[in-house]
Amino acid sequence: MEYFKITGQNRLEGPVDISGAKNAAVAVMPAAIAANGICVIENLPCIEDVTSLIDAISKIGAKCRFRDCHTLEIDATKINDYRATYNSVKKIRASYYLLGALLGRFKKAEVALPGGCNFGTRPIDLHIKGFEALGAKVHIEQGMVKAYADELIGANIYLDQVSVGSTINIMLAAIFAKGRTNIENAAKEPHVVDTANFLNMLGAKIKGAGTDVIRITGVEELHGGEYMIIPDQIEAGTYMIAAAATGGDITIRNIIPKHLDSISAKLLEMNCKIVEGCDSVRVIGNSRPSGVTLKTLAYPGFPTDLQPQMAALLSVSQGTSIITETVWENRFQYINELKRLGCNITVEGRVAVVEGVEQLTGAEVCATDLRAGAALVIAGLIANGTTIIGNTKYIDRGYENMEKKLRALGAKIERINQPD
Ligand code: EPZ
Repeated sequence: MEYFKITGQNRLEGPVDISGAKNAAVAVMPAAIAANGICVIENLPCIEDVTSLIDAISKIGAKCRFRDCHTLEIDATKINDYRATYNSVKKIRASYYLLGALLGRFKKAEVALPGGCNFGTRPIDLHIKGFEALGAKVHIEQGMVKAYADELIGANIYLDQVSVGSTINIMLAAIFAKGRTNIENAAKEPHVVDTANFLNMLGAKIKGAGTDVIRITGVEELHGGEYMIIPDQIEAGTYMIAAAATGGDITIRNIIPKHLDSISAKLLEMNCKIVEGCDSVRVIGNSRPSGVTLKTLAYPGFPTDLQPQMAALLSVSQGTSIITETVWENRFQYINELKRLGCNITVEGRVAVVEGVEQLTGAEVCATDLRAGAALVIAGLIANGTTIIGNTKYIDRGYENMEKKLRALGAKIERINQPD
């Protein structure tokens, strides 16, 4: 069994370099399936989700080759299958992007449904609604989503709910559809824009990514090309929160400050100091940040993927804080683990009330998902004594070398591999 062992109460300081964005990588890699040529993707993060996705697209016939650990070549010209079985996609939540990419290119796709998350189901009704609006017939049988179309015709698609996955997936299916497709109430996350920019670099005609309405004009074919994906907004935000939580002073480098506006604003509200550079942000924590109210929203609101990390910080902040989770139906399951470290948090539906305590005490805990794991690491960095965090595999899905980056900042953290 592998776990992190953290000895807490060390102030973090110094620079940390942010890796490429997981949620851009898991969309851009399937998007490369649409290209009739070789795609070279740079600044890929070295994380499990990327490895799992390489396995999945290799199994359908794409040729993948690393030029170095952050640069991947994908040659999808010889793809010979439109089916992605459960075995090849079960480890990657975002396998649903293969649906849009294969349907767009081959007019047919059969992809195993991704498993549910630990914070509620992962419905894909909006993805399916978009595919059907483009003329596809979609049905689900034996855990496989099957989509077929004689041809794909551009359509006006209104998303009942802002959804990153369905916005990207419909974009992937619409790039070759005849005529114009409008996606209204589209998600505006940085990784949505990054995927559109990648597809446009290959010759797609996508306008309006980053606004509520994305307009796509179908093209015949996409060529290959080289593309560097954006830095990871959520990894950067995690280190910003770690700086505030340890009263530290961290310069987070290789970022796009604009993507972090909502986190910077919240930490300023908590009396941290923020110094923005052109591709960096420096966070200087104080001895005890003040509590705040926090509501997660679609971009440019405060990201839901930083909600657990903020709960760890707020658990030792002054006074009472209120966290409202508006994106996921049940994203507070990690709080039971935080309570083992002495946090005082009460959950009622989508609202968590956090009473700031003076100190946390190290304990044995277990990550329940990727961002919950990051929250437990932050809590372990704050706690007095030793914290053991199991299920590091969740953390490795989305954070490149987390323990190495934290150790370089002064944290006492090590990865221990103990035979069961
Ligand atoms: C993406 O998930 C991210 N994952 C999630 O990050 C992130 O939490 C989420 O967007 C919100 O920002 C990736 O990008 C790989 P949604 P996604 O579609 O696309 C509902 C992480 O830790 N919905 O924006 O699956 C859904 O239930 C992960 O990196 C439908 O009802 O999220 C949710 O309430 C965790 N029907 C809301 O929309 C649908 O068809 C937003 O979901 C699709 C979604």
